[in-house]
Formats: sequence, C-alpha cells, structure tokens
Amino acid sequence: MSSDVMLQVAAVEKSFGGFQALRGVSLDVAQGQALGLVGPNGSGKTTLINVISGIYRPSAGHVRFLGRQIGGLTSDRVSHLGINRTFQVPKPFGSLTVRQNVDVALSHSRRSRRKAEDILAFLDLAAMQDREASSLNTAQQKLLDLGRALATDPRMLLVDELGAGLSPADLDIVAAKLNALRQEGITMLVVEHLLGFLAKVTDDVIVMNAGQEIFYGKLEAAAEDPKVVEVFLGG
Ligand SMILES: Nc1ncnc2c1ncn2[C@@H]1O[C@H](COP(=O)(O)OP(=O)(O)O)[C@@H](O)[C@H]1O
Ligand SMILES: [Mg+2]
Repeated sequence: MSSDVMLQVAAVEKSFGGFQALRGVSLDVAQGQALGLVGPNGSGKTTLINVISGIYRPSAGHVRFLGRQIGGLTSDRVSHLGINRTFQVPKPFGSLTVRQNVDVALSHSRRSRRKAEDILAFLDLAAMQDREASSLNTAQQKLLDLGRALATDPRMLLVDELGAGLSPADLDIVAAKLNALRQEGITMLVVEHLLGFLAKVTDDVIVMNAGQEIFYGKLEAAAEDPKVVEVFLGG
C-alpha cells in the first residue's frame, strides 16, 4: 500500500443472514482526497460506511486506517483513531439543546482540539444553540450531526447523504462547509445521490451496484460508462 493511502478497504464482504450486502469491495482513499460514492438504493453504500466506522464487523476482508487494521473495532475505537461519520438520518438527542448535543460528543472524545463555540459558529448554529435539537429543520439537524462528528476531531469523515432533502441554497452551504473542512486537511468519503453536489465536493467517484464496485474515475466519465448507464437507466 502506498504511503499516502489513508484508508484501505480490501475485499470487504458483509452478509446479513443469507443476504450479501457487500460482495468484495476494495478501495483506497488517499490522504487529503475526497472520494465520492454513488449507486442505486440498496447497493451497499451505507453498509460500507457502517463497516468502516465500526457499526458492523466485516464478514470477510480487511479495513486499514493509516496502515492499522481497524475492521471489527468498535465505533468508539474507530472514532478515537480518527474516523467519524454522519448518518443518513440524523438522530440528535432531541430533548437536549443544540449546544448540549455538541458537548456530549466532545465529552466522548479524548484530546479533541475543537471547541463547541467554534463548531457551532462554523456550522451557523450558534444563534440556536439553546434550542432543543428536535426543533431544528432538516438542514440544521444534518449540520448538527456533522458537528457531532467534528467534535471528535476526525482526520477522515464518512459523509452519508448529507445533501438529501436539502434545498438548493442549503446544498450550496453544506458543500461549502465540506470544502472548508477539506481545506483544513480532513480526508473524505462522500456518499451522495445528487451529482451536482458530488461534483462540487469530490475529485473521483466510485459507483457501486449490488454490493460491488463497477466504476472508479471522474464523475463525468462515469456518466458515459456503459455499466454505469445500464445500472441507472436500464434497471
Ligand atoms: N442491518 C441490516 N440487516 C439486514 N439487511 C440490511 C441491513 N443493513 C442493510 N441491509 C440491506 O443491505 C442492502 C444494502 O443496504 P444499504 O447499505 O443501506 O444501501 P444504500 O446505502 O446503498 O442504499 C439493502 O438490501 C439493505 O436492505
Ligand atoms: Mg444509504
């Protein structure tokens, strides 16, 4: 593995009972890269994020982060090592305030150099920090979930459909946030259906179908790849 590879996923499989959600996925994410991940619903994108972030143990294969084996570690361990993720459907502590949600995340992370004030200001949530999290709109809940992940001071972020359900104006704001984090040096794996959003925040993309990678390269090239076209238009 070359020295600038931060995350290496090698031949990872994940089965639920007799159903194989991941059928041997391999990918590298280089330090500083923002790699996009697209594919139809059910193709295994969230499962892959769940395996990398320690929610699921892989049924086979390896996950290495900075050369260290992390497949099967708990999500706490994985986040201490420097990977955190957002959730496709954020689940903040609804009866806690916005600020308290960030404080809880900070209290779970050792040696975070981030402060709640900075996180809330960065995410434009400072003005609503004393509101109950359940009162936030979709975009704000997604930003708060990003804040929870940022509290652990990740070197790598796994972003699961952060753009889904947002207005075009909110999408631009969220894309700008991700780009700012990348400027800070955070490496990213970004799952997204919205191709315009992906084009703004990623370099290369991987296309998955039925638990397997079917394309790796530039987003524009994906649109002309026969296998990709078949998956999106033929099925
Ligand atoms: N915990 C689980 N138990 C059983 N099946 C699951 C579980 N998680 C995901 N799956 C199945 O695995 C497949 C991939 O799901 P998912 O990774 O969520 O897809 P995507 O994020 O690409 O839409 C789907 O068929 C889904 O129903
Ligand atoms: Mg998903």
